Amino acid sequence: MPYSKEDQQWIQNQLRAEHIGREIITYSSVDSTNDAAKRLIGESDKEGTVILADGQTQGKGRQGRTWHSEENVGIYLSIVLKPSLRPEQISQITLVAGVALAQTINEFSRVRAHLKWPNDILLNGKKVAGILTENCQNNAHSGIILGVGINVNHSQFPVSLQRIATSMAMENGEIFERLPLITYFLNHLDQEYRCLLDEGLAPIVDQWNMNSDMFGRQVFLAQGTQTYSGTAMKLNEKGHLVVLTDDGEEIGFDSGEITLLE
Ligand code: BTN
Repeated sequence: MPYSKEDQQWIQNQLRAEHIGREIITYSSVDSTNDAAKRLIGESDKEGTVILADGQTQGKGRQGRTWHSEENVGIYLSIVLKPSLRPEQISQITLVAGVALAQTINEFSRVRAHLKWPNDILLNGKKVAGILTENCQNNAHSGIILGVGINVNHSQFPVSLQRIATSMAMENGEIFERLPLITYFLNHLDQEYRCLLDEGLAPIVDQWNMNSDMFGRQVFLAQGTQTYSGTAMKLNEKGHLVVLTDDGEEIGFDSGEITLLE
């Protein structure tokens, strides 16, 4: 069901956040909440506006992939942020969002959520949520668009996704209400975002490392045309993934695509 004015008001009443969610714009369907947020960013310097859609016709994932955005069952939202971070620090926002998502899902799900670097949240090894962070300049205004998709009550996925995607409902055998999930997420996000701006990246990295089960595991990492095989060790203080390669070299990666091998 599309979000009603009452739903929007209910979310806003639950928010403890200073900025995030002060304004919430809802759609029954939109091309992509990230693209809607980009159109909006050109109009004002306000931070914290949330774009929330019941479904998306052109939901986007990382690396030009599409994000399966079935109506009624998922959470698709984007937030306009305007932190004073350098462009190369934008990946820190992805880490912040990952921590807030893991905290949120773990408050509702009996099956524990784990973070997979850089932007995936997994339940039982399958993807339940993803993050798409984009740097954006429109007219004289610029900012970061943080897009989040959560598979909440999907009962099935297209064949091409069945091996890799799951939903909270499929793993827990129960249906979840979307509104409490949205408010928990926005409150956790606000808290972790403030923490990043006030204290820096270190506490976020600690939280991230605690919510991941990829360390000590064999991984295959692709970065551009380069590929590496080794053991994932931790996120370092810069938020880079440290891999001990099979050749015995420790490398910190600031980007890449990971495959967990065991
Ligand atoms: C990924 O895992 O590749 C990132 C997925 C991000 C999906 C969300 S859904 C809301 C927002 N709007 C989009 O078009 N994408 C993000």
